[in-house]
Amino acid sequence: MKQNERRIVEGGDSPQQRKAGDGAKRAILALAGGAGLFVLGSIAFDLGILGDDGSHPTNSSERESDMAAAYFSPPAETSIPDGPDGDAIRRGMALFVNTKTNAADFVGNELSCASCHLDKGREPNSAPMWAAYVIYPKYRSKNKQINTMEDRLRGCFTYSMNGQDSPSGGPPPAGHPIYKDLQMYFHWLASGAPVGESLPGQGYPELEKTALGYDPQRGAQVYEQNCAACHGSNGQGQRDLNGKLVFPPLWGPNSYNWGAGMARVNTAASFIKANMPMGQGGTLTDQEAWDAAAFIDSQERPRDPRQTGSVADNAAANHGQDTYYGKIVEGRLLGTGTGR
Ligand code: HEC
Ligand code: HEC
Repeated sequence: MKQNERRIVEGGDSPQQRKAGDGAKRAILALAGGAGLFVLGSIAFDLGILGDDGSHPTNSSERESDMAAAYFSPPAETSIPDGPDGDAIRRGMALFVNTKTNAADFVGNELSCASCHLDKGREPNSAPMWAAYVIYPKYRSKNKQINTMEDRLRGCFTYSMNGQDSPSGGPPPAGHPIYKDLQMYFHWLASGAPVGESLPGQGYPELEKTALGYDPQRGAQVYEQNCAACHGSNGQGQRDLNGKLVFPPLWGPNSYNWGAGMARVNTAASFIKANMPMGQGGTLTDQEAWDAAAFIDSQERPRDPRQTGSVADNAAANHGQDTYYGKIVEGRLLGTGTGR
């Protein structure tokens, strides 16, 4: 058997395992709605939804939509080799999961890479790193250049991690060991994957537009019912009793900035439909996912670091459709930034 055949496995646990997992998650959501929010993090921890490193392993096999698809399966953590390679892979994984702690100089918000690339970058349909690794270098229309993986990672630090508000004031400089360790981790995750192929589960599966279009006001209701229990009524996220962030902020000064992919309504809708509420991806209707995305992406967040002149100039230069950047919502111009 060829190596890549061996690693592409059917995403299926036994139905019993699946049911047990769903039950635990339903219990969490019921608690999230009723009981005090402070205990939520520790409950999630106890039930194994939160890993002891603060990551949130999701099990792709628990999702109906995954049952039909066969996804590439990255190697188990226990198979990380010893020696310098293995050390770098482990450092890369730690950077990915606890980015704020391990790349403190270059992170200007409360997110980690794994906040948007679930299960430590392993989860299909949540832009998994094994699928990304094999399609770089490539041309990106965002900056109209061939991008190496390091270029791509610099972009993530600049926008998704809001590097401008970090202690160093920007992303790690070119050639920094952080880029090397992250790439060692991705290279290892992609062990046996075919280079240059767009693998099933790559990126966030694009969500088709709905006839109704999207609307932040409808989205506010979707949010209150399906999201606020974890992410907070003001999108601020949630900490456990020790102050450790367990649910990441969705807007405001501690979230991704206006230049990030997630600030585009279509990208957020795709992510939300496939992955949220946590552990229940695929359960919102397309309409709900679009409206929730419109709601969170019509809130103020850190400024777009590409802005040199006015918001209107930057909107024309760098923002296309499906964004609230530069638009007026409820009498407020969006895109001016949150300050820190
Ligand atoms: C706020 C959410 C968010 C955070 C945080 C984030 N990313 Fe991303 N990332 C995205 C989005 C959105 C995309 C674009 C995916 C798409 O268009 O399908 C992306 C794409 C990528 C890609 C390319 C994926 C592909 O298939 O082409 C890589 C690699 C990546 N991110 C790495 C990282 C790393 C490393 C970090 C941490 C330093 C990080 N990201 C933090 C949202 C995020
Ligand atoms: C049960 C708790 C829970 C619920 C409910 C939930 N999320 Fe999340 N969400 C998370 C966690 C946890 C993460 C980060 C993943 C990780 O760290 O493993 C996350 C990440 C995100 C992210 C990317 C990271 C960021 O901060 O921007 C977005 C966007 C998001 N959720 C939107 C939503 C929306 C919209 C809903 C409602 C439809 C929702 N979530 C419901 C727990 C939840």
